[in-house]
Amino acid sequence: MYKIAVIPGDGTGPEVVNEGLKVLDSASKKYGFKYETKTFDFGGERYLKAGKTLEDKDIEDLKKYSTIYLGAIGHPKVKPGILETGILLKLRFSLDQYINLRPVKLYNADYCPLKDKKSEDIDFVVVRENSEGLYKGMGEFQKKGTQDEVAIQISYNTRKGVERCIRYAFLYTRKRNKRKKLTLCGKTNVLTYAWDLWERTFNEVAKEYPDITTDYAHVDATTMWFVKNPEWFDVIVTDNMFGDIITDLGAMIQGGMGIAAGGNINPQGVSMFEPIGGSAPKYTGQNVINPLAAICAAGMMLENLGESKAAQAIENAVIKIVSTKLKSLAAGKMGYSTTEVGDLVTENLE
Ligand code: IPM
Ligand code: MN
Repeated sequence: MYKIAVIPGDGTGPEVVNEGLKVLDSASKKYGFKYETKTFDFGGERYLKAGKTLEDKDIEDLKKYSTIYLGAIGHPKVKPGILETGILLKLRFSLDQYINLRPVKLYNADYCPLKDKKSEDIDFVVVRENSEGLYKGMGEFQKKGTQDEVAIQISYNTRKGVERCIRYAFLYTRKRNKRKKLTLCGKTNVLTYAWDLWERTFNEVAKEYPDITTDYAHVDATTMWFVKNPEWFDVIVTDNMFGDIITDLGAMIQGGMGIAAGGNINPQGVSMFEPIGGSAPKYTGQNVINPLAAICAAGMMLENLGESKAAQAIENAVIKIVSTKLKSLAAGKMGYSTTEVGDLVTENLE
């Protein structure tokens, strides 16, 4: 019996989470796993009413669950930064979800903005470090508000933090068993402390994985290759900030935010799965947002729980409906409503 903590969150989060839960319900019946859910109201509305983001007791509570299913965090009436750091990043950090796993897979070439790319050309996974780097929040202002002001933002990289991420990426590349190629994406030519540590660690760990081909690309060049030769990539490992940036580009070449899902993973603890697109406030309540990213996140969650057959069935159903039904992956242009897309996936689960 899996215990799933559901955090629908803000904007279109609740709408897409509903569709994910609909698919989960039907997958559980077909594949015979059992689960119960509990919904938590963390998000912008609660913050505006009660002034609370996420308290330590909430974290302790969440630690009792098998997994977390998240919609979106971000509210137009709350100053940017408060909910992001107070809820989303606090969840990632305090549950030590040190991997942010972001598959970039093109399910239908018609939705790709790149010319002449086939669906098999875009099929890679970004392993983003999710607990350190620039996201650590270290730094300070000096002489704030004066003409001599200095703002310092530190990228914090520990050997242990870097190594566990790199080890996860090597193991993942081996298990994925596709091209067995792992690319380190960094900036060794300029950021000579952080990326020296990353590169040294990468090269050392690589010796334990002779079956994996290794490669290195600077982050700026990586964005170029994503557009020019995405077929070169199998698995990419990178730090928190670079991973954040390149996975938005990754989402666009796989068909947009409507389809991009991710997992915040603690291999020894409680992980959290989410569509990566955000709360999309302008589409809230209209039944037009694409729920596929949330549905794919539910699939990743099942994979992580060990329900591989159900996860594969969800992915197959998504592939089928994006190839045969949907007119577009963009909100309001799918040719179907949010709830209808959820129904389509459910009907095509085999
Ligand atoms: C993401 C988001 C978050 C991040 C924001 C909302 C804090 O952009 O999940 O990629 O920067 O990690
Ligand atoms: Mn992002």
